[in-house]
Amino acid sequence: MKLMNFLPVVSLIAVIVSCNSPVKDEETVTVKAGITKTDWGEFDSSKVYLYTLTNTKGTEVKITNYGGIVTSFVTDDKAGNKSSIVIGFDSLSGYLAKPPYFGALIGRYGNRISDGKFTLDGTAYTLATNNGKNALHGGLKGFDKVVWTSTVMNDTVPSLTLNYLSKDGEEGYPGNLKVTVVYTLTDDDELKIEYNAETDKTTPVNLTNHSYFNLTGDVSNTILNHKLMIDADNYTPVDTTLIPTGEIKSVKGTPFDFTAAKAIGKEIDSVKGGYDHNWVLNKKDNSLQKVAVLSDSLSGRSVEVYSTEPGLQFYTGNFLDGTFINRDGKHINQHTALCMETQHFPDSPNEPSFPSTILKPGEKYHSETVYKVVLNK
Ligand code: GLA
Repeated sequence: MKLMNFLPVVSLIAVIVSCNSPVKDEETVTVKAGITKTDWGEFDSSKVYLYTLTNTKGTEVKITNYGGIVTSFVTDDKAGNKSSIVIGFDSLSGYLAKPPYFGALIGRYGNRISDGKFTLDGTAYTLATNNGKNALHGGLKGFDKVVWTSTVMNDTVPSLTLNYLSKDGEEGYPGNLKVTVVYTLTDDDELKIEYNAETDKTTPVNLTNHSYFNLTGDVSNTILNHKLMIDADNYTPVDTTLIPTGEIKSVKGTPFDFTAAKAIGKEIDSVKGGYDHNWVLNKKDNSLQKVAVLSDSLSGRSVEVYSTEPGLQFYTGNFLDGTFINRDGKHINQHTALCMETQHFPDSPNEPSFPSTILKPGEKYHSETVYKVVLNK
């Protein structure tokens, strides 16, 4: 790794050469120290690649520019065995079968907008609805189902930049939205995700990542024995279609209390369908702070979640029903993986009391989330 510090020019040339020259089917090239690029096929007439980011510890994150999907995140467990702490597939075809947002970037609006409608500056907008009467995760073809432009940065740590232009009117949203997402894998086993966006018309924006974690690395184990702490005294209750009622409710004395780490399965049976709610994080500003810790004693792994965002959608894979098969051939059943989606609150464009998700021309949307893997031996 040290070598690359002395060879910035050579690395830069390697980046340029590799980004400009076509990669043959399934061919893998080293773009720079710590990053390889594999041809993964084509979608919508655009080339799809799988990038592998490796740090000096041998931790490895794979990301494709189709949907900006994190397909795997391989770390050591306490016995020294390697496995992926997120579910996913080893080929593009798996993702084209439309799994429920496995590992994907979510936009233009993470989670639900009631009836797919909102009004901005007196203009009423109607979105594509794709979840009963509501709009979910950007609509029928959200940011999870498009090919992003990808650039490998000539940095000291492996980093991948993805760009996408969401056109004015796409899925019903106003304004051309230029989005940049930067994934970085640090030597401290942190997967850092930075989101930036700019618009030319006022629009709601709420970006997140939809990785499904199972820290045992094996979906034959449910996530019910994982322990979770969420630094949140309140959550947003929902109606039967999972739209927030607008109320901010205390978690105290309810199954939603994760202020001290507890097993996810402990009270899940008292929550109809399982957890699929937004927690109102205790953090008071938009600085990057630790907001949650997930841990699993079987593997000895923990994931600390840091974010600039005010909310966390904790989802226990309630709708997973075995239809999709993980890379190891095992069916992905209910509660065998969970999501910790850092975000603004669902349906904020229709809830004036929630933190604003409205981006205006000239403003810069910026948000950061870090998933840090820690091994407790
Ligand atoms: C989010 C939602 C869930 C579900 C999943 C995807 O977590 O809150 O209700 O739609 O995405 O299946």
